[in-house]
Amino acid sequence: MDKLIVEGGRPLVGETRISGAKNSALPVLIASLLSGQPLRVGNIPHLRDITTTLELLGRLGVQLSLNDRMTVEADASQVVDLCAPYDLVKTMRASILVLGPLLARFGEARVSMPGGCAIGSRPVDLHLKGFAAMGAEVSVTDGYIEARAARLQGCRIALDQPSVTGTENLMMAATLAAGETVIDNAAREPEVVDLARCLNAMGARISGAGESRITVSGVPRLGGADHRVIADRIEAGTYLVAGAITGGDVRVRDVDPALLGAVLAKLRDAGAEVDSGGDWVRVRGGGRLGAVNVQTAPFPGFPTDMQAQFLMLNCIADGTATVTESVFENRFMHVEELRRMGASIRMNGNTATVRGVARLSGAPVMATDLRASACLALAGLVADSQTVIDRIYHIDRGYHCIEEKLAGLGARIRRVTASQWRRETERKAA
Ligand code: UD1
Repeated sequence: MDKLIVEGGRPLVGETRISGAKNSALPVLIASLLSGQPLRVGNIPHLRDITTTLELLGRLGVQLSLNDRMTVEADASQVVDLCAPYDLVKTMRASILVLGPLLARFGEARVSMPGGCAIGSRPVDLHLKGFAAMGAEVSVTDGYIEARAARLQGCRIALDQPSVTGTENLMMAATLAAGETVIDNAAREPEVVDLARCLNAMGARISGAGESRITVSGVPRLGGADHRVIADRIEAGTYLVAGAITGGDVRVRDVDPALLGAVLAKLRDAGAEVDSGGDWVRVRGGGRLGAVNVQTAPFPGFPTDMQAQFLMLNCIADGTATVTESVFENRFMHVEELRRMGASIRMNGNTATVRGVARLSGAPVMATDLRASACLALAGLVADSQTVIDRIYHIDRGYHCIEEKLAGLGARIRRVTASQWRRETERKAA
């Protein structure tokens, strides 16, 4: 297993390009299942979750071609299988998104039931309730969700929580349903809006994406389209935090600053200087940052996917702050690892109270989930000795070449294989 080796203490300076958003690219690629005509998708990030999605689509019979500029053409004219198997769903929970499109276009689908994961139980009950309300027969047998419906019927669905993938799954299904579907308490995340834009380009009739009520008028079939996915606001936010905590000067480009409102506001509160233009954001760190209270919430609130990075920022800031996780029940796996680096964090239910310390010290640490692993890389950048991060396959799920982008900004960070690392440590010991 690869590891990241980080030597802290350097301010990050320079510019980096932000990749396409993973959480847009996944549903957009899966939307190809709704049509017999090819869908071309540009700005696809080079990530492990994308490879998993392409493998899943390929197994279902979607013809895929990928050029060297990461544009994928997906042609689902000859779907041969309607089942998402356990071996793929267990590595990527977003595989549940094939359920809506397959059910809507082919009248049936089988998807392995996603299990729990490091950040909580993460049920899919809202997806299933929505399909049932649209007239599908839904059951769970032998660990698989099975859904059938001759034709889905438009209806009113009020989500108990504004689930992102839940909204996307139901919105995709509703494009081919008979009549009108109204989704209330829909997720308002930019990735939902991006998917709606792609579906409308394919001929769907969706209005209200980005608001709490989405209305979809079903059409008999969808066609092909060309779509470019939006930039990854979480990747952008992570590099901006890296610039701020190292006292550096980092500019991220190819990203819409409007997607980063809550994150930029917190960076300013912490004392960082933030400027932005049409498609870029620049952050300057300067002196020691101040502690900032953070509470996660659905968009446009502060994103749960940036919680670990801001908790880490607070670890070395001046003062004490609370970080409250309101979206997922157990998203604090990074706390134990940060404590091993000298952070002072007290947990009480879903709130972490973080007292800033003057410095962290490097340590061997373990990545536990995608965003937790990003926060460990950030911690390594400001620690006063070497940090060795294990299990970085989590980071590769969501960050394209994080070590190359950070090194491009001046960080001392490199990736080693397990055997390279063993040889290095043996040499040092000898
Ligand atoms: C998506 C994102 C993930 C992000 C999360 C919240 C993708 C591929 N992933 O995950 O990066 O952290 O949104 O912004 O886009 N819930 C239920 N029942 C359901 C569905 C959800 O109770 O059927 C609950 C969840 O347990 C959680 C909350 O709703 O407490 C929000 O989860 P949700 O928005 O569904 O997260 P994902 O779509 O899985």
